[in-house]
Amino acid sequence: MEKIRAALIGCGHIHSLHTRAIAVLPDVEIVAVCDEIRERAEKTAAEFSCRVYTDWKEMCECDDIDVIHIATPHYLHAPMTIYALEHGKHVLTEKPMAIKYEDAEAMNEAARRTGNTLGVIFQNRTNPGSVLVKETLESGKLGKVKCAKCALYWDRPDSYYAKDNWHGTWEREGGGVIINQAIHTLDLLRWFMDEEIDFVEANIANRTHPTIEVEDMAEGIIVYKNGVRTMFHLVNYYGENENITIDILCEKGKIHMEAAKATVTFEDGSVIERDNETVPGPTVPGKGYWGVGHYKQVADFYESIKKGEMPALSGEEAIKTQKMICALYQSGKTGQRVQL
Ligand SMILES: NC(=O)c1ccc[n+]([C@@H]2O[C@H](COP(=O)([O-])OP(=O)(O)OC[C@H]3O[C@@H](n4cnc5c(N)ncnc54)[C@H](O)[C@@H]3O)[C@@H](O)[C@H]2O)c1
Repeated sequence: MEKIRAALIGCGHIHSLHTRAIAVLPDVEIVAVCDEIRERAEKTAAEFSCRVYTDWKEMCECDDIDVIHIATPHYLHAPMTIYALEHGKHVLTEKPMAIKYEDAEAMNEAARRTGNTLGVIFQNRTNPGSVLVKETLESGKLGKVKCAKCALYWDRPDSYYAKDNWHGTWEREGGGVIINQAIHTLDLLRWFMDEEIDFVEANIANRTHPTIEVEDMAEGIIVYKNGVRTMFHLVNYYGENENITIDILCEKGKIHMEAAKATVTFEDGSVIERDNETVPGPTVPGKGYWGVGHYKQVADFYESIKKGEMPALSGEEAIKTQKMICALYQSGKTGQRVQL
C-alpha cells in the first residue's frame, strides 16, 4: 500500500511532537514542512529529507500531500484548516481549535462539505490515567459525580511573552491561561463529566503581567445540566510549574489526578492507580507536562483516515470544549453568568 503523505505548517516549539510521531508510523511519510521563517523549516526538512515551503497556501495547493498538520499561532488555525480542507487535505490542528466559536463552526462545516477529516489535538485524553478515569466513571462503580475541581499553578515569566508577537495578545493568542495552558485540563474535566453544560461563571484578571493584554488568572464554576458543579483556579504566576490537579468527588469514592497519574479510591478503601507509560513517539526535554499523548493521538488520526471513520478527537468533539472556553471568556469579560 502507498504511504499517506503528510506535511506540517509551523516548525516552532511543539512541531517535533508531530513530525517525530509521524516518523515512527510505518505507513506515513513526511513530504513537506512549512514555516514563514525559512531556517526553521529547513532545519526540520533536513531531519526528514523533505521539501521546504515558506508559503503555507502554496504547500496546501500541492497534489502530492494527503494530510496537513497545523502547529502555528492560534489565530491561524481556522484559516489554515479551512484552506487545507478545501484543497483536498485531511487536517490535524493543534489546540485550541480556534479563537472564536464561529470560526470553529466554519472549520467543521468545511470538513463536512469537503468530506475530509478534521482532528484537534488534546493529547492528554490518551494518557493511561485519563483513560482510567473515563472508564471508571462510565462503569458506574463510583456512582454519580457529586462535584469536581481542577487547579493549575504555573509560571509564565515576562520573557515567555516577549519571545514572539502572538503570545499575550487577544487577537493572536485569543486569551491567556484559559485558552493556552489550562485548556487541556478544562477539556479533560468536561470530557469526564460527559454531560451538557448548563452555565458558566468566571472571573479573569491580569495581575502580574503588565506587558500583556490577556488574563494570567482565572477562577470560576462550570455547572452541568445534571446539576454537577465543577470549579477551577488557574494562574500563570506561581513561580514554578506545579503538577496540575483534578479531583472528582463521587457517591461511592473519589478520583485524584496529579499530572498524568490518576488514583481512584473506592468506598471500601481499595485503590487503583495508573500513570504514564513509555510510547514509541518523542518527548521534548524539559517539557514533561506536554506528556506522551501526541504519538497516540497522531496514530489514531491516521487509523481513522485509513478506515474512513471519525478520529476520537474530531472537530465535532473538540468544538464542545471550544464552546465552553468561549463562554468562560464571555463571562470573564462581562462579569455575567453565561448560559450555554
Ligand atoms: N498540545 C500541547 O501540549 C501544546 C504545547 C505547546 C504548544 N501547543 C500549541 O501549538 C501551537 C504552536 O505553539 P508553539 O509553542 O510551537 O509556537 P511557536 O511560536 O514556537 O511556533 C509557531 C511557528 O509557526 C510559524 N508561523 C507563524 N505564522 C506562520 C505563517 N503564516 N506561515 C508559516 N509559519 C508560520 C512561526 O514562525 C513558528 O515557527 C499553538 O497552537 C500552541 O497552543 C500545544
